[in-house]
Amino acid sequence: MRENELAVEAIDLRKEFSVDDSGKGFMGRIKALFHRRQRKIVAVDGIDFQIKRGEFVGYVGENGAGKSTTIKMLTGILVPSSGIAKVSGIVPYENRKKNAAKIGVVFGQRTQLWWDLPVRESFEMLRVIFRVSKIDFNHQMVRLERALDLEPLLRMPVRKLSLGQRMRCDLAASLIHRPPVLFLDEPTIGLDVLVKDAIRKFLAEINREEGTTIILTTHDMNDIEQLCKRLIILDKGRIIFDGETESLKRHFVHEKVIEIEFDDKESPVEEIPGITVIHEEGCRKWLKFDSDNTSIGEVISFLATNYKIKDLSVKEPSVESIIKNIYMNRVSLSASLEKVVS
Ligand SMILES: Nc1ncnc2c1ncn2[C@@H]1O[C@H](COP(=O)(O)OP(=O)(O)OP(=O)(O)O)[C@@H](O)[C@H]1O
Ligand SMILES: [Mg+2]
Repeated sequence: MRENELAVEAIDLRKEFSVDDSGKGFMGRIKALFHRRQRKIVAVDGIDFQIKRGEFVGYVGENGAGKSTTIKMLTGILVPSSGIAKVSGIVPYENRKKNAAKIGVVFGQRTQLWWDLPVRESFEMLRVIFRVSKIDFNHQMVRLERALDLEPLLRMPVRKLSLGQRMRCDLAASLIHRPPVLFLDEPTIGLDVLVKDAIRKFLAEINREEGTTIILTTHDMNDIEQLCKRLIILDKGRIIFDGETESLKRHFVHEKVIEIEFDDKESPVEEIPGITVIHEEGCRKWLKFDSDNTSIGEVISFLATNYKIKDLSVKEPSVESIIKNIYMNRVSLSASLEKVVS
């Protein structure tokens, strides 16, 4: 891949933290005065990836997997213990200012806005900090106000905003200088369905129309399914999957589910070999089968010839169920995962 096509790159990137592991309680603190014990935590354990301009990548993993630590190294907040990070060719922790001008960052857990200032003034401060011209600022504000419905919020002090309102403002703030790369660390955490939906629509729009490269950390698998073509899964600081979200489905999902509505409630589907009824409601049944052993075509044609069917649809398993499965079966899946990574 050519250097100028790359938006983000991690080369054997690693981050360790030393934490004080002296005993707890009064005696522990006394002992610690004489003998301090340090414990090492490897938060990010030598990861490699390349993200091209315009990609929309989901970065997922269980709590403590190392996602935020990675984002902090890519945004220049943390210095890696070893390895290299590059964003648009810039090493973030060596050129914090230069990097900050070219990236947008949102940490869902905390705001980058000034708590007591009205939202509009926070935006104005950021305009000055990022040296955005008034014309460009006004132009971008019109767009952000419309897309994120900001107008009613602009005169309110940040501390009075609800979580969803604050998140919309934070997202707008991260985009005032129209950065080509956007890092989002759990931007949808705690938001209601409507706000999540508005934010997802907006992110899809800037990715599509402006070609903004987006790296999104989330625990909400709907974010991934709806937005991220590519998925990187982190487990205990290491990458265990890096590929297309669709290919994850293809590789790990052998079970398919057919939702079927029969004319007659008594249809004895239980007796078909290889097919299990997992749920039923009146004339509707949900049938599970292994697509490695039986093709969907075979199952559908068997059902259609032998039963009176009103309606039938094949359900794709959700990315959430696949990832849950990967977390739960790490050991047995590790061999096949390596195949997909490589
Ligand atoms: N400043 C720090 N000092 C010591 N340990 C830290 C520090 N920051 C993170 N860690 C540890 O590094 C590991 C990775 O943390 P990180 O915040 O990157 O996880 P995460 O994947 O973002 O998790 P979550 O989904 O809960 O946000 C954890 O074990 C965490 O306790
Ligand atoms: Mg985190």
